Amino acid sequence: MFFEIRNLTKRFGGVTAVDDVSISLKKGEIIGLIGPNGAGKTTVFNLINGIYKPNSGKIIFDGKDITGFPTYRVAQMGIARTFQNIRLFSNLTVYENVKTASFSFAHYGTLASLFDLPRVRTEDASLQGRCEDLLKLVGLYERRNELAKNLPYGHQRRLEIARALAINPSLLLLDEPAAGMNPQESLELTEFIKSIRERFDLTIILIEHHMDVVMRLCPLIYVLNFGRVIATGTPSEIQSNPEVITAYLGRRREAIAVEGA
Ligand SMILES: Nc1ncnc2c1ncn2[C@@H]1O[C@H](COP(=O)(O)OP(=O)(O)OP(=O)(O)O)[C@@H](O)[C@H]1O
Ligand SMILES: [Mg+2]
Repeated sequence: MFFEIRNLTKRFGGVTAVDDVSISLKKGEIIGLIGPNGAGKTTVFNLINGIYKPNSGKIIFDGKDITGFPTYRVAQMGIARTFQNIRLFSNLTVYENVKTASFSFAHYGTLASLFDLPRVRTEDASLQGRCEDLLKLVGLYERRNELAKNLPYGHQRRLEIARALAINPSLLLLDEPAAGMNPQESLELTEFIKSIRERFDLTIILIEHHMDVVMRLCPLIYVLNFGRVIATGTPSEIQSNPEVITAYLGRRREAIAVEGA
């Protein structure tokens, strides 16, 4: 297996946010991770990329045990993520956003860059070329000089994914990339994810509430509820799984009850 989570558990005080979760992916595979609000989906990503350490369980990437690795090392290994709430430098340009993401992966240190050594200038030029190529590939090159905050919402999401791609990952974790999108934007995003997956040879875990997006992209779906995997299967298996239906309906009834209270 290219990527594996084995029996991962994370507790916050009395809440078991992730409860004995195991997930595995082959290289190039894309899986969906769905479940009601608070099911533990984002916490799984936070455990993978080292924001939290698990109470128990293991994370294996490309044959290496990366459990408990700090965030920067996880990124260096080739695991990139996006966030549920867009995290961009809103007052930087599109180009600068991608460049800052790539920068930490340039080879020279700060000292060398202070002295403007020839090697730095060459690397700067290649970094610029790499960022521009990436912006072309994600369809944002024409807008490279616009401030991130002035982009339409769908393009901001795309830019966030471009920032993740700037570290040249092999595993990409997408946390609700279609959040807040209308059906047209969701459809464009779906095509976009397909294209970058092929272009960059990515393995992808996709958290998403938009079922149309998950169903179009993911042949295999894991369903979380109260931190546990309650179902694994194809989109049609998941859609007709009684436990999944109850998990979603149960939460909806709760929400209605709260709203009505
Ligand atoms: N840092 C934290 N401290 C305490 N509890 C947390 C923390 N992070 C998450 N939790 C709790 O863990 C549970 C899972 O949260 P998580 O954000 O992983 O859910 P989710 O499936 O991503 O939900 P959503 O669909 O709303 O994004 C929730 O009960 C949440 O309140
Ligand atoms: Mg979440």
